[in-house]
Amino acid sequence: MVKIAPSILSADFAALGQDVARVEAGGADQLHVDVMDGRFVPNITVGPVVVGALRKRTRLPLDVHLMIVEPERYVADFVAAGADLVTVHAEACPHLQRTLAQIRELGARAGVALNPATPPDALQYVLDDLDLVLVMSVNPGFGGQAFLPSAHRKIREVRALLGDRPVDVSVDGGVKPDLASSLAEDGATTLVAGSAIFGAADPAAAVRALRDAARTR
Ligand code: DX5
Ligand code: ZN
Repeated sequence: MVKIAPSILSADFAALGQDVARVEAGGADQLHVDVMDGRFVPNITVGPVVVGALRKRTRLPLDVHLMIVEPERYVADFVAAGADLVTVHAEACPHLQRTLAQIRELGARAGVALNPATPPDALQYVLDDLDLVLVMSVNPGFGGQAFLPSAHRKIREVRALLGDRPVDVSVDGGVKPDLASSLAEDGATTLVAGSAIFGAADPAAAVRALRDAARTR
């Protein structure tokens, strides 16, 4: 079954605990936390302090998406704060294999994110060092952007590259219920969604709607 990861980027940051409780009640599988530094992407969000605060408020695994330069400098802080999964961008890591090994050594699961223009080939020599591939279906930085259809082909190519390795393939950006079943068919195992969930009047129902949509073929 496809996993649903609500992105708190579109939640109410002044009422984060409440919004998280809503999606947890709706059956979300993990919580996606977008960390932006104003350098790798043109926006600034949250750091380890907020991850630590979330850790105290939810049992959901925390899926931390680092859109920052030199992520290796902060990986330990995020794991110490309670991140279960740490995803770094291939474009931000000159020593990608080392950074992935660092994440695993700290006891977290390691993910690699690919910007829309980055080919799956970037993963070729780290296939055994990762637990998740995050296919970006928008250029990262903001919630509420339109899904780029090139992600469909990217997901299929990543899936083929992974062979039978038990690696999650997650898709992030512009994911709405009408795309869910085709993304699952492409080989996505996790759907990240921000505005489709927290922009809805009932975020718990939006989690269920996304999951149901992924099931129907
Ligand atoms: C984009 C972030 C996404 C974002 C998705 O830079 O990585 O996680 O929150 O938001 P939606 O689902 O609204 O495109
Ligand atoms: Zn994200």
